[in-house]
Amino acid sequence: MSTEKPVRRVTVPQIAGRKGGEPIVSLTSYHAHTAAIVDRHADFILVGDSLGMVMHGMETTVGVPLELMITHGRAVVRGTRRALIVVDMPFGSYEESPGVAFRNAAQIMKETQCGAVKLEGGARMAETIRFLTERGVPVMAHIGLTPQSSHVMGGFRTQGRDAETWESHIADARAVAEAGAFAVVVEGVVEPLARKITQAVDIPTIGIGASAGCDGQILVLEDMLGLGDRPPKFVKVYGRLGDEIERAVKAYADDVRSRAFPGEDNVYRQS
Ligand code: KIV
Repeated sequence: MSTEKPVRRVTVPQIAGRKGGEPIVSLTSYHAHTAAIVDRHADFILVGDSLGMVMHGMETTVGVPLELMITHGRAVVRGTRRALIVVDMPFGSYEESPGVAFRNAAQIMKETQCGAVKLEGGARMAETIRFLTERGVPVMAHIGLTPQSSHVMGGFRTQGRDAETWESHIADARAVAEAGAFAVVVEGVVEPLARKITQAVDIPTIGIGASAGCDGQILVLEDMLGLGDRPPKFVKVYGRLGDEIERAVKAYADDVRSRAFPGEDNVYRQS
């Protein structure tokens, strides 16, 4: 008989209950093997639509289809046992109406077995967030710099540099919290605004490029591992995997060219 305790996944209420408590640790992940590593350290893992840019070479997240989110969402759920898995709703899958949003969110949840979805937008998405949460779909909101609106915003621009805009960002945070979001990602806002937003709502704020003034942090895994060639300025790089992969691939190529492969000298010898 196994004496190993079954591992329980972190739940949505557990994340919601961390408001003002121990900081919430989160990273993105798009595949089973990295997710299995992240799973040992993060409270929740986001299958972010940033995968369109990071993994598929897109210029923005706008072109990411629902099917791609589901494919990567499935892989991450399969690779993990402990962290809450949140899957991004891609551009065009939820803005049209609460009904469309519910149909697509339900498909994501059924087909990936994730624990929650994330969508971008503040007050304008409040009705949809309420519709989803009342029907059993836990929603993480995303305000501040919302990459799916980058064409409207004129690029990926830090929000709140002008203090006159703060009230509308704070109103966004209040609106999504009142509508039932269990947490809110606050992206690319100046530190005093991040602190004000965090004080204004009773759900955890998860910052990215938004200072330590939030209840938790999230980074794109590849950025903090030093895999991308253009990590955003705010990212602290914890590893240099790009350089390490380059070194290993070059060593392999040199081996093949000099016929020094594979590692085990005698595998091909006849006994
Ligand atoms: O898509 C993503 O990875 C995200 C994070 C940057 C929060 O939304």
